[in-house]
Amino acid sequence: MTEKQLIELLNDLSFEEKIGELQQLSGRVYFGDDGIITGVDSNENLTEQEVNRSGSVINVVGPDKILKVQKNHIKNHPHHIPMIFMLDIIHGFGTSFPTPLAQSCSFDPELVKEIAHESAVEACNAGLHVTFSPMVDICRDARWGRVMEGSGEDPYLSSKMAEAAVLGYQGDDLSKEGTIAACVKHFAAYGMVEAGREYGTVDTSERFLRQYYLPSYKAACDAGSALLMTAFNANGGVPSTGDKHLLVDILRDEWGYNGAVITDYGSIRSMYSHGVTKNAKESAKLAMDAQVDIEMCSYCYHNGLPELVKTGEISMEQIDRAVLRVLQLKNKLGLFENPYRFTDAKKSLEVINNKTAMDLAQKAVSKTSVLLKNEDKILPLKKEEKIAFIGPYVYENDMYGGWSIRNQRKVEPRNIETVVKEKYPQNEFVFEQGSELLGADEPILKYDRARGSTLEFEADATARKQKIEKAVKAAKTADTVVMCIGEHTKVGGELAAKAYIDIPKIQKELFDAVAAVNKNIVVVLFDHRPLDITDISKKSKAVLNVWFPGIKAAEGIVDMLFGDAAPTGRLTMSFPYTVGQCPIYYSQLPTDHSPVIESVYATGYIDCQLTPLYSFGEGLTYTDFEYGELKLSKETLSQGETLTVSIDIKNIGERDGVETVQLYIRDIFASVSRPLKELKGFKKVEIHKGETVTVEFTLTPEDCMFYNTQLEYVWEPGEIQVFVGPNSKIEKFKSFELV
Ligand code: GLC
Repeated sequence: MTEKQLIELLNDLSFEEKIGELQQLSGRVYFGDDGIITGVDSNENLTEQEVNRSGSVINVVGPDKILKVQKNHIKNHPHHIPMIFMLDIIHGFGTSFPTPLAQSCSFDPELVKEIAHESAVEACNAGLHVTFSPMVDICRDARWGRVMEGSGEDPYLSSKMAEAAVLGYQGDDLSKEGTIAACVKHFAAYGMVEAGREYGTVDTSERFLRQYYLPSYKAACDAGSALLMTAFNANGGVPSTGDKHLLVDILRDEWGYNGAVITDYGSIRSMYSHGVTKNAKESAKLAMDAQVDIEMCSYCYHNGLPELVKTGEISMEQIDRAVLRVLQLKNKLGLFENPYRFTDAKKSLEVINNKTAMDLAQKAVSKTSVLLKNEDKILPLKKEEKIAFIGPYVYENDMYGGWSIRNQRKVEPRNIETVVKEKYPQNEFVFEQGSELLGADEPILKYDRARGSTLEFEADATARKQKIEKAVKAAKTADTVVMCIGEHTKVGGELAAKAYIDIPKIQKELFDAVAAVNKNIVVVLFDHRPLDITDISKKSKAVLNVWFPGIKAAEGIVDMLFGDAAPTGRLTMSFPYTVGQCPIYYSQLPTDHSPVIESVYATGYIDCQLTPLYSFGEGLTYTDFEYGELKLSKETLSQGETLTVSIDIKNIGERDGVETVQLYIRDIFASVSRPLKELKGFKKVEIHKGETVTVEFTLTPEDCMFYNTQLEYVWEPGEIQVFVGPNSKIEKFKSFELV
């Protein structure tokens, strides 16, 4: 439809139809409790007529179901306006890819774009129109369960991944097959919840908000994200879903964003929980004044807007503006011309787990896994050795991680034992589970079973002891032990904040028993978040952090263990020594007094080191690289100029490899305190054995901009240090002067 036709349609709608367009229903309205549940529904008894006027629905899955609901809706809607079908497709639809945090460790936006595209291809024929992804909240506290959904601690890297995901989902025309609309979330700064507490308090200065936490949302908006989702949290006591300064002054007026803003699940209603509104009407007023367009699964607009319009507290212009954005979104999706879009049950079955997607899923495992330690180059394994594979993840097929309950796969994933035996049938390998994933003594007090996952806890002490004994027996006679251990595959994502970030006690007991009889331990670590693996790392020769790698986890991990693929991931979130260091991140501000006074006044702790166990950007591979002299093309840089940074890198190892070259800057003195390092560039470079390549970056004054005390985005004259290397721990630098 043309814009003119949309306006005509808008003007023809009744008031009730307009309010309906702003309402998102949960699939449970149609399918009761056998639908997917991702939030607490209000038990609103809408009339059939009200249901038939709703603009969108969440959590209806399956092309047949979607066709049935859509056909009925179009028939019964007074203007036959189609609904939008939305779902959380966080890291794959039929083909489960590595979690977003894992994907960010690839430092490969092209990979993230490909994964988003393949997810859209599978979801599109299944009848879905919108995914609630990418989540781009900056996360620096491993206690928060949702760090798995983001791209870690750094704004620059997260921005690149956000842009890639949006382009991958949406392509260049949302009316085309193989596309779904992106919805960047959770606006804003949900990842900064105090102490990682789920739904916790956020309190960041506007300067830090703009400097560190908003850039990744803006990158997604600038890439064209069709929707943006408001966050549950308040910032400084102002609920994000009703924050006019955030949603209007910054998002709409400063950024010029005119996409559809949708709330998180019931987050208009949640303003009541923040103690900021007393009823639906007050919540509706705050949200509508903040230009929130779609209310997800609560009914404050439905119940509050009629009266607000009657009293003139809300104008029809405000309502019309919101409704028009919803109609424009439907128009972008081509729903007026093609109301069933590309929903096709037969084609969906063909497309799910297609070869391109499955090959990508396997390739992604090594690109997202991070080799944290590899003493004596124990990896890759030697096939002729006697190897014991021990741990619950040797036999676990579900290595998907959180937000995978919607998986519409038709191919069942395999486990590590199956794949090893198939690939190396003649070899002397032994396999022992050693323990269940969780024991009865885990400090898990509660878990949200509504997300379709139930947790089992090993309560049989005898069975627990016998499994460990069998594992120890196998370890005693092995040359090398591969321990496949980690967090429970479902204890991650929303409602999975943890005060203890250790691996489950039952698995640590297993690990310690095995480590007592064999020193050649390779740990394959499964996690949603950085864990406290200080003791495990000390007692292991290698730690391969695979996160949750998805449907081709077993194949991808075995490829790496035996060297058919090399891990090339780099950490995008620091691994703390202990949970007491959280939140922890590389781009700390220079608060250390010791250079000025004396070393005893150094920042940090008296009982723990200041730096993490493993830092941002860290990761090994199966060869080594040597960095040459850093060169800058000029000593001063002015407005309108560029400066070239170059460095030679040699592969001095025994095999070809991929290096992730990282460029950081430090603005030594400025009108506000600037971080010790800030990532401003990265490149994946393939370097053959013995080869030297020259890697170049360009810097401009714009790369050195920041928000000053007046919240102006500026750069200031002065010394800028430039670091180029394999991780954020680089110390060597060269300087130039901004003039
Ligand atoms: C949840 C999550 C959000 C998700 C939405 C819909 O509560 O906060 O990330 O997209 O509800 O499931």
